Amino acid sequence: MKQLFINIKELLQIRENNITKLSGAEMKELPTIKNAWLLIENDTIANYGEMSSLPKLEVDTTIDAKGKIILPGWCDSHTHIVYAGNREQEFADRINGLSYEEIANRGGGILNSAKTLQETSEEEVYRQSAKRLEEVIKLGTAAVEIKSGYGLTEEGELKMLRVIKKLQENYDLPIKATFLGAHAIPREYKESPDAYMDLVIEKILPKVAKENLAEYIDIFCEKGYFSVDDTHKLLSAAKKFSLKPKIHVNQFHAIGGIQAGIEHEALSVDHLEVMRPEDIESLKGTDTMPVALPSCSLFLSIPYTPARKMLDAGLPLALASDFNPGSTPSGNMNLVVSLACIKMKMTPEEAINAATINGAYAMDLSKTHGSITRGKKANFILTKEIPSYTFLPYAFGTNAIESVFINGKIVG
Ligand code: NIG
Ligand code: FE
Repeated sequence: MKQLFINIKELLQIRENNITKLSGAEMKELPTIKNAWLLIENDTIANYGEMSSLPKLEVDTTIDAKGKIILPGWCDSHTHIVYAGNREQEFADRINGLSYEEIANRGGGILNSAKTLQETSEEEVYRQSAKRLEEVIKLGTAAVEIKSGYGLTEEGELKMLRVIKKLQENYDLPIKATFLGAHAIPREYKESPDAYMDLVIEKILPKVAKENLAEYIDIFCEKGYFSVDDTHKLLSAAKKFSLKPKIHVNQFHAIGGIQAGIEHEALSVDHLEVMRPEDIESLKGTDTMPVALPSCSLFLSIPYTPARKMLDAGLPLALASDFNPGSTPSGNMNLVVSLACIKMKMTPEEAINAATINGAYAMDLSKTHGSITRGKKANFILTKEIPSYTFLPYAFGTNAIESVFINGKIVG
């Protein structure tokens, strides 16, 4: 099956296939072809160029994309899409003056979602999660990472990971699974948090690995949750099962989580709302991708990741949604890209790079996804008629997407 797109107003993010991530000043460049054509063969990007160079091609369909832009689908490298129920009451409580921390200390927060998850059947968790996944695909997400972390028991964690597995089987986009058993300390372990760490490391982790339910390991390294010591312990144990770290660090306090992640060759360190100069310094020259989650900052009214400082120091940066019921009940990557520009002073080029190729890197997918490159998967967004790509972050809240293609097939 050959599909040819012609008269594309602008084809974005054209890269050679040796580019796996972009750092610092490189992120300012967004290579494009104006008035372009794009040939898709089955599930693969076969070729592209300027309309003036369009060769004579035998194709099955030709799509006229006049006035429209094509760009790689969003690569959302940090989500908690699998959960049960919602926490809109906590949202109202925060409006009325309680903080996220106070709500968590009263037994709300992650523990609230864990209780609901435990009480909900696997089929129902799947149904609710699949609905969210379909929603974000329509919004342009064409590769996604999903974490466990609302089970907090062996049964609950495995239930979540099995739901992720079922999503992997039933949907065509790449879905990467992360085991986040160390997301919060369950109430029963309040007085003996080490016993919970033992349960995660000695009982649940080996099962997750044996059933091949996750590729990555995560931990919420934060005051009141898990310490840097816990992080070292868990990441060392996970290494024996070849689970790579992608960890929650520096959301509310900088306690050394970044350095722990780097020591264990984390693929990514995520959140980074609170960054000390030494945290930026530590990331220099490493293969670890820093990931910012601006929708979380918006929803919780907490600081935004200091993207400008990080990019100006030469670091790479990826953007992700953090879609979850507590801190970010939205998986809209278009909004994430807008917020990165509006609140983090990233340029549209930097934000698009961060949400595509760098997001792909943060899921080990940048050899196959994240750019318009011959041989990569045909996962891309076709916009409506828009004046320029800057219109995407500028017109925040507007849905500028006409359709989304995954493996060459139109999905939304
Ligand atoms: O990434 N910070 C830790 N975990 C999630 C929020 C969890 C929740 O409130 O349910 C996050 O923001
Ligand atoms: Fe998160």
